[in-house]
Amino acid sequence: MGSGQAETSVLVYNGMVSGPVLRLAQGKPFQANVINGLDEGTTVHWHGIRLPNAMDGVPGLTQASIKPGGSFHYAFTPPDAGTYWYHPHDHTARQMGRGMAGALIVEEPEPPGFDRDMLWVLQDWELLSDNQIVDGFDNEMEGMMAGRIGTTVTINGTIPTPVSIRAGERIRLRLINACLARFMALRFAGHRVVVMALDGQPVVQPFEPDGGITVIAPAQRVDLLLEATGEPGSKYPITDEFYGNDESYKLVDLAYSESSKLTISTKPIILRLNPVPKPDLTNPVRHQLTIVGGGMSGMGMGGMMGGMMADGNSATPQIWAIKGPDGLNQGMAPILTLPLGRTAVITLINQTKWWHPMHLHGYSFHVLSRNGDAEQYPHIRDTVILRPKDTVEIAFVADNPGDWMFHCHVVEHQDFGLMTVIRVA
Ligand code: C2O
Ligand code: CU
Ligand code: CU
Repeated sequence: MGSGQAETSVLVYNGMVSGPVLRLAQGKPFQANVINGLDEGTTVHWHGIRLPNAMDGVPGLTQASIKPGGSFHYAFTPPDAGTYWYHPHDHTARQMGRGMAGALIVEEPEPPGFDRDMLWVLQDWELLSDNQIVDGFDNEMEGMMAGRIGTTVTINGTIPTPVSIRAGERIRLRLINACLARFMALRFAGHRVVVMALDGQPVVQPFEPDGGITVIAPAQRVDLLLEATGEPGSKYPITDEFYGNDESYKLVDLAYSESSKLTISTKPIILRLNPVPKPDLTNPVRHQLTIVGGGMSGMGMGGMMGGMMADGNSATPQIWAIKGPDGLNQGMAPILTLPLGRTAVITLINQTKWWHPMHLHGYSFHVLSRNGDAEQYPHIRDTVILRPKDTVEIAFVADNPGDWMFHCHVVEHQDFGLMTVIRVA
């Protein structure tokens, strides 16, 4: 990575930071043979894809970790078009924090009509002055607070340089937040952006984000329509304002070429909805899951839950927990069993002082309500933000059998206990 003279040593897929962009066709089989050239175990998780459980890439749950020198054959057919990604699910903090993540794009059978498809895989890195990555992943201080937030943000594995754009084009900007813990709130100076899809799933009614700011949590994706309405030859900054005005910074500039101004086409751009089954809310199975713990929780000793993580690493205290109908989450033991084929409505409650992007494997769920406000057109997502004290209701048809991870995608929260399993059988 080139933020200066010294090279940064990284862990990568196929020699690339970020990993190779995988372009799949909706409804067409895909396969990947993964060979582990690392000196520790790894797996590949295909984040957001509704796939068979055995292909989900969770060590100790859906497969054994791929040993150094070993390999694993993944094969699945993506049912949904959209913007997805892949990353390891073993030693996740270290492997992802050292670079392992890549985009997985599932193409629509017919192009939806944008002039250009632009992809930004956003990663952040905690670098020393010699450009080496700070070691000590899964440190307890980061784990009980906001996780590891790096010092340097890259786009597609490089330090951002101005992005050239032509007046008049309509761009599909695919954003993938592949950071361990960094949330982003992007403002596009001088431009109107329209949200077309969230976590790969097209929205029923495309909309301009609140205050013009696109919020994207770790693991989330947003597909924006960016209309190039700027002046030829001018530059417009894109800023990240998530951590407040003091810490807002410029992510990158949009740099217009000198070409003459074209008028924006008015031909409609349509993303067709994917075949995600619609929840039947007349007679759902209902459950409640409550997130507890973390720093400043008033539970003593940084909010330790008292237990240790059951991952064989006895040095990892459980700082966070998920409370289900039978008590706190216990390692990989299912916290809920949902009857196959029924609609499940799960109420998620955040009793902590921290933000959590909660992610369910194997499903795209409808976000029905937040703090009692029902959505008219529920967004379909695989990762939903719970702010401190938020209560969010999600619903999905439990049509995909297996043991599915449900966890916070701030990787340090996951590693210190904010993870469990939902069984569908
Ligand atoms: Cu992208 Cu279990 O996660
Ligand atoms: Cu996932
Ligand atoms: Cu979290």
